[in-house]
Amino acid sequence: MSVFREDVLAGKVAFVTGGGSGICKGITAALMAHGADAVITSRKQDRLDESARELADATGRACLGVACDVRKPETVEAALDAALERFGKIDIVVNGAAGNFLCPASQLSYNAFRTVMEIDTIGTFNVSKAAFEKALKKAAGVIVNISATLHYGATPLQAHAAAAKAAVDSLTRSLALEWGRSGVRVVGIAPGPIEDTEGLSRLAPGPIRDQMIAGIPLGRMGTIEEIANLALFLCTPAASLVHGETIVADGGHWLGGAALATLMSS
Ligand code: HXC
Ligand code: NAP
Repeated sequence: MSVFREDVLAGKVAFVTGGGSGICKGITAALMAHGADAVITSRKQDRLDESARELADATGRACLGVACDVRKPETVEAALDAALERFGKIDIVVNGAAGNFLCPASQLSYNAFRTVMEIDTIGTFNVSKAAFEKALKKAAGVIVNISATLHYGATPLQAHAAAAKAAVDSLTRSLALEWGRSGVRVVGIAPGPIEDTEGLSRLAPGPIRDQMIAGIPLGRMGTIEEIANLALFLCTPAASLVHGETIVADGGHWLGGAALATLMSS
C-alpha cells in the first residue's frame, strides 16, 4: 500500500523518457497509480506498446507509447505534439533516457563518448526545452532529471556517463534558475545501484555486485519502487519548495568507506 494519497496526481499528465523500461517504467507506474495519465517514450515502439498496455492495465489510467530519439529534436517535438494531441497538456516531465556501458577511457572511441553525452545530456536539454516551450511555461509543472552519483568522486570505466550526468546536474540547477518564475520546478534524482535494472546488469557484472553491496552502508541495493516513490514525492505539492536540487537515493553508497567502517567496528 502506498504512503501517498492515491489521487494526489489526479488530472496530471506525465511525459517520461525511458519510460518503457527499468527505473522510469517504475516511476511511470507510481505516477499513474496516483492519478496521472502518461506518455512513455524511447526508441523501440514495440516495447513501448507492451509497457503502455501493462501500465494502463495495472493502474486504470491512460498510457500512450510514442517512439522518439532524445538526440533528435524533431522526433522529441513530434512526441510532445502527440502527447498534447492526446491529453491536451503536460504537467510532469521525467528525463530518464540514458545510455551506459563499462569501458576504460583509453579504449573509448570518440563516437562512444559522444553517444552517451548526446543521449544523457543533450537529450535532457532537448526534451526539457521543447516541453517548456510547448507546454510547461503556459501552465507550470515539474521536470525531474534522472542522474547518478558516478561523478561525485570518480568511477572507473565510466568517464562518459560520469561526465554526462555531471552536466545533467548542472542543467538541473541552470534550468531551475531560469524557469522558476514561470512556475516550473526543476529537480533531480541521483540513484545509487538499483537492483533488477539494465543499468545494474551492465555495470555490476558477476562478483562486482557483491563488492558494490559491501560499499553500501545500508547493506543492500535500492529498488525501482524506492526511486519511483522519490519521484512521486518530487511531483507532489509536498515538494513545492524543492527546486534546482538533485536528491541522492543510494543507501549511503557515495559516502565511501562502508567496507572499512564494517571492518573497524567488527
Ligand atoms: C565500448 C561501446 C560499447 C561498449 C557501444 N559502444 N557499446 N564502446 N564498449 N560496451 C560504442 C560503439 O562502438 C560506437 O562507437 C558508439 O559507442 C555508439 O554505439 P551504437 O551502438 O552505434 O549507439 P546506439 O545504437 O545509439 O546505442 C547507444 C548505447 C547502447 C548507449 C551504445 O548501449 C544503448 O542503446 N543503451 C540504452 C540502454 C542503456 O544503456 N541502459 C543503461 C542505462 S544505465 P564507434 O566508434 O564504434 O562508432 C545508466 C546507469 C548510470 O545510465 C549509473 C549507474 C550506477
Ligand atoms: P534502462 O531500462 O536501460 O533505461 C534507459 C532507457 O532509455 C531505456 O528505456 C531506453 O530505451 C531509453 N533510451 C536509450 N537511448 C535513448 C534515446 N536515444 N532516445 C530515447 N530513449 C532512449 O536502464 P535503467 O537502469 O532503468 O536506467 C534508468 C535511468 O536511471 C537512467 O537515466 C540511468 O542513468 C539512471 N540510473 C540507473 C541506475 C541503476 O542502477 N540502474 C543507477 C543510477 C542512475 P530504448 O533502448 O528503447 O531507446
